[in-house]
Amino acid sequence: MKNYKSLDAFWMPFTPNRAFKANPRIVSRTEGVFCYTDDGRQILDATAGLWCVNAGHGRKQIAEAIGKQALELDYTSPFNFGHDIGFEFAERLIQYTPDPLNKVFFANSGSEAVESALKIALAYQNARGKANKFKLIGREMAYHGVNFGGISVGGLTPNRKAFGPLLPVDHLPHTLDLENNAFSKGLTEHGLDRADALEELIKFHDASSIAAVIVEPISGAGGVIIPPKGYLQRLREICTKHDILLIFDEVITGWGRLGAPFAAVEFDVVPDMIVSAKGITNGIVPLGAVFVADHIHDTIMENSPEGGVELYHGYTYSASPVACAAGMAALDVYEEEGLLTRASGEIGKYWEEALHSLKDIEQVVDIRNYGLIGAVQFAQPEGSSAPIGGAFQVKCYENGVMIRAMGNIIAFSPPLTIEPEQIDQLVAAIRKTASELF
Ligand SMILES: Cc1ncc(COP(=O)(O)O)c(C=O)c1O
Repeated sequence: MKNYKSLDAFWMPFTPNRAFKANPRIVSRTEGVFCYTDDGRQILDATAGLWCVNAGHGRKQIAEAIGKQALELDYTSPFNFGHDIGFEFAERLIQYTPDPLNKVFFANSGSEAVESALKIALAYQNARGKANKFKLIGREMAYHGVNFGGISVGGLTPNRKAFGPLLPVDHLPHTLDLENNAFSKGLTEHGLDRADALEELIKFHDASSIAAVIVEPISGAGGVIIPPKGYLQRLREICTKHDILLIFDEVITGWGRLGAPFAAVEFDVVPDMIVSAKGITNGIVPLGAVFVADHIHDTIMENSPEGGVELYHGYTYSASPVACAAGMAALDVYEEEGLLTRASGEIGKYWEEALHSLKDIEQVVDIRNYGLIGAVQFAQPEGSSAPIGGAFQVKCYENGVMIRAMGNIIAFSPPLTIEPEQIDQLVAAIRKTASELF
């Protein structure tokens, strides 16, 4: 039952509004790994919303925790006042982060958490008397949200080009190398030298001018780009050698997506900060967080006047009690159901084999995967300048599966609760869609 007259008023984000409104896809209910359309069709949610509903939809335990918190303590200012659940949640969260990342700064989204991490990096360099270390290094094809810091270090041209001069940044080369790594399973073999490019950037800018390097351990929105073996370790070594902070943006790779709580744990590389969001509340209530190494926090504390604010940064909804309650309940669900490591077991292997079975489709030029994340890349359609991903996404939805499209790449990040028969459903829908489109 619709209570609106038209779709006109809602300016939809990252959506071709005119095309969508001519052919809308309205989801009216969600449950488990499925969405249900307004005309009652069941759709497999192979994207876990936007890489965020890690424990699947409709988790009663989380909904009840949100309701209870809203009735008990709905909101109180996080500036100069505290509430128990904020401290309790922060203490609980750092049990999952590698030492020494033992401090949590809360935001409301991945984008805000990225901005917070970048500002903390600059504030740290300032506090230790190195204010000249203000440049940031990102990476081509990276996505770090949509705010000015995030699009500056981000490496997706359409997200940057309309927005004028950005921050002083430079970019590492991306690690997508179809020539050498196509159809790799897990980490790729070739391209470690792309980490060495950081040495070149440091030579050019000089380490004395660089505050931090930020990367997604696996690029998500850039097209699920899996790094070469040893790449993240190499970045860590180079950053340490040159006294530059290393930030992992784990908005997608956190909370079980790769088979561990964080990529930092999975790949055994400890950055100076981890950016988190999405799965931190099972995607139900917006929340972002930055996990910060003790030495960064302590340096900022120790170099601020006693009794004064140490970091002039924060949000009205930093550690919102309802978001913290959702996060606590999400962690309970993840723990009770073993979801933070499930992707590293049998289901991850099933996922890998199932996705790679699509290799025989003529237009497929690459398939890549790690944990419960994956992507299929198609060749640019002949005789057309438009990539195929958008059309594929729409057709696939008609065939009962929600996927993500980026250019000629389609990406998947299902709820971590997915079962083999649902993976089969996804693969069958991709095959059917390909046969109808090509
Ligand atoms: C790696 C990464 N960083 C940051 C963000 C931004 O998060 P949000 O959309 O919650 O602002 C995203 C969103 O997809 C992301 O994938």
